[in-house]
Amino acid sequence: MELTVLSDLSQQELEEQLQQLEKKYDQFKEKGLALDMSRGKPCPEQLDLTKKMLDLVTSDDVYKTNSGVDIRNYGVLDGLAEAKELFAPILGVKPAEVIVGGNSSLTMMHDTIARAMLFGVVNSPKPWSQYEKIKFICPSPGYDRHFAICELFGIEMITVDIFEDGPDMDTIENLVKEDPTIKGIWCVPKYSNPIGNTYSAEVVRRLAEMETSAKDFRIFWDNAYAIHHLTEQHDELVNIYDACENAGNENRVFIFASTSKVTFPGAGVAAMAASPENATRTKNQLGIQTIGSDKINQLRHVRFFEEEGSLQEHMKKHAEIIRPKFDKTIELFEKFLGGKEIAKWLQPSGGYFISLDTLDGCAKEVVLLAKEAGVTLTGAGATYPYGQDPYDRNIRIAPTFPSLDELELAIEIFCVCVEIVSIRKSLAA
Ligand SMILES: Cc1ncc(COP(=O)(O)O)c(C=O)c1O
Repeated sequence: MELTVLSDLSQQELEEQLQQLEKKYDQFKEKGLALDMSRGKPCPEQLDLTKKMLDLVTSDDVYKTNSGVDIRNYGVLDGLAEAKELFAPILGVKPAEVIVGGNSSLTMMHDTIARAMLFGVVNSPKPWSQYEKIKFICPSPGYDRHFAICELFGIEMITVDIFEDGPDMDTIENLVKEDPTIKGIWCVPKYSNPIGNTYSAEVVRRLAEMETSAKDFRIFWDNAYAIHHLTEQHDELVNIYDACENAGNENRVFIFASTSKVTFPGAGVAAMAASPENATRTKNQLGIQTIGSDKINQLRHVRFFEEEGSLQEHMKKHAEIIRPKFDKTIELFEKFLGGKEIAKWLQPSGGYFISLDTLDGCAKEVVLLAKEAGVTLTGAGATYPYGQDPYDRNIRIAPTFPSLDELELAIEIFCVCVEIVSIRKSLAA
């Protein structure tokens, strides 16, 4: 029974199976559980990996960098030289092209858009806010907070499908070629949130080279999971900065990353990179907003990776903690949903999420049912602009925070919910 394709079952078989599943669901519900898998947060064991960092900048005269900067004082707008060196390989640029910020790359993305709205970017005929309407391409499913930034600034979002090798480039090329009000695109190019896929070399090249009607079109390249591999088999991402430069479009891209899921999400360091022209303009504007970001935290980070081993070795420790959770989730999906043709998922080689597609029209109901049984998931639709999944099928699973036992229980309940909703839908049809 377990591996039967749902559509092959008779009405009576479906009803019997539904009854069994509903009984199982009620038993779970009686447990009064409260399991939260809604946001991709590191678990406490991951946070402990960086505990020592808090002891590395002390009052014993170790508050100066090797080059003599007193980190307690004002200044160094774009970040300590050592911090730029730390971020350069993550962002795929030279240290001189890095601007180190505060603790959140999301803030840097938000502020970059806010500045573009108020003042435009290099080559903008006028500030973006002075257009009657501007639009962004939003490959979806994607990161809900990117979409929230667009909503906040009144930027119209165009939903474009995303495939295993990246966004639907044929559609994107046609759109940006024709429409001068399309000013940008959001991209999470590696181990993407939420699918976990990585853009192919071809997709990166086409993004860098495509003809855009807006001369001030920008790619917001949020490489949040650049170094967050789960296995030894790393996905390779082509360097967007080089691709844009080679295409003569070096001003086209803003690149972002942070150590939120390397050290502490609440006290990491973020950075961005851009062409010299973009960077100069950004720094001139930043210099009005601040005299410099938190250099004490920058130095803590630099020292931690000097003393505790390389970034790569450190990320392997994260992977050792969270890989079993990803493996368990996939194992349970296979066990409970595999072969039934009611759900699809990818096994990511990195990042923080697994994305599951139910049958069309089922996601909202699954999330609601799971919630009633004590399992909180990211809201259905959240992975699409305006919170509207046109297919009502995508659900983002964030397996990192719960313990393995909690996760196992939560995923089993989730799978029961997927089955119940799929059968109900089948019967109704
Ligand atoms: C794609 C993506 N970008 C950015 C962030 C947030 O980054 P930060 O903590 O640097 O603001 C997240 C967090 O989940 C994310 O998934």
